Amino acid sequence: MRKNSIAFGGGAYGDEGKGRIVDEYANILAKKYKMVIYRDNGGSNAGHTVEVPGKAKIALHQLPSGVFVKGATVILGKGMVINPADLLEEIRQVKKANSNKLIVTILIDEMAVLTLDTHRAFEGVLKKYQEGGKGSTGRGISPAYADVLLRHPLRARDIKTFNKEKILSHYRMYKDIIKGLGEDMEKWEINTLGSSGKSTVGSEKVFIDRLLKQSKELKRYISDVSDFLKTSWNSKSYAFIFEKAQAVGLDPRYGVYPDVTASDTTFGGIESSTEGLIDPMEIEIRASVIKATYMSSVGTRKLPSMMTPELAHRIREDANEYGATTKRPRDIAYLDLVATDFFRKVGKATHMVLTHMDIVYKDTPVKVCIGYTLKGKKVTYRPDQEFLNKVKPVFKEFKTWDKDKVQKAKKYVDLPKEAKVFLTYISKYLGVPILMITTGPKREQGIRF
Ligand code: IMP
Repeated sequence: MRKNSIAFGGGAYGDEGKGRIVDEYANILAKKYKMVIYRDNGGSNAGHTVEVPGKAKIALHQLPSGVFVKGATVILGKGMVINPADLLEEIRQVKKANSNKLIVTILIDEMAVLTLDTHRAFEGVLKKYQEGGKGSTGRGISPAYADVLLRHPLRARDIKTFNKEKILSHYRMYKDIIKGLGEDMEKWEINTLGSSGKSTVGSEKVFIDRLLKQSKELKRYISDVSDFLKTSWNSKSYAFIFEKAQAVGLDPRYGVYPDVTASDTTFGGIESSTEGLIDPMEIEIRASVIKATYMSSVGTRKLPSMMTPELAHRIREDANEYGATTKRPRDIAYLDLVATDFFRKVGKATHMVLTHMDIVYKDTPVKVCIGYTLKGKKVTYRPDQEFLNKVKPVFKEFKTWDKDKVQKAKKYVDLPKEAKVFLTYISKYLGVPILMITTGPKREQGIRF
């Protein structure tokens, strides 16, 4: 077991509020150790808003939340798909919040895959041919991962050395594919994080010139990170936090198709991203983050534990359940422990973090799905919508607890009895301890166990 290493990942369908937890643990560890914060999957499909006290609200997409931990080394790993334009915009915002300085060292693994405007255009065009699902976040994530399987990815090092021939061949291939699908890539409108939010792919020259400019700014961050990773992982003076993106319920293998992303959202992804240098099973704590009293989901997936529209609406407004990247309203369901247990198991979590313990209402019991039946027989979770449409949820009701008391609690003992009963049940059901809960929207509203 590697001491002082903690990984956080989404334990449901995304948007569990991991960023804040990472921030808290990274700041604690940073008091004693040199910090490494590592992200191994996804790209700017992730979204997390960080409030820099007294300064700005910043939406992070590719940079992990640890980017505000002074002196930390933040690594964007090989398993990520990186959009240079969006990343530069994020770096600009992060610097702006810190008197125009970076307070961390950013390292981009030279093997990380690039996702460019070409991918966003292709993804947009493909929508015409796809059935089901609400589509992607429009950030060109899956086409970039598909490039790897099709053996023609552009990697971060291709913009460092500026391999113009390879980049041109990439542009021309996507232009031809898109032309074959009846569209003009040059004029295709795509999303960006820049001020206008919209852009077009543009001509070959425009595309190359733009990328060249971005590469000049980004190349200082791009390197072979393996030596640093090996040395720091084997050194007692470093602590590690792994911040995953998305969630196990969005994994292409374990999520409900087609509302899934393309990256490995389990802790297993850390191993491939670090080229085997870090075995996720050696990470001391692998915490799966979920919301305590409900689940949220974006997409067309139908969760067996759907709740009444009235209660769902109330929770959506109270907990601001709207997408950070897309602003889409999220579907709200009762906490489904059958699904959560499946995600914990395949995700390889050793602990749980429960957020939003304060989202409870007087006179409304906290309802949790604790089982499924199919034709009267007990069944377990399977990541298949057709199967899930047929199962009947079995619910258990818990007495609600005093929201104010929870919000004010500083320690476990301060929690209302009903909240303790609930937490004990969850931990027993899932067979793993609870590492932390959050009890309100403010940074200090959290209890570590
Ligand atoms: P993609 O990741 O852009 O390919 O989108 C695929 C699916 O995953 C869509 O249903 C997205 O809404 C969903 N998704 C991707 N990232 C997140 C996230 O961070 N939170 C919630 N849903 C996400």
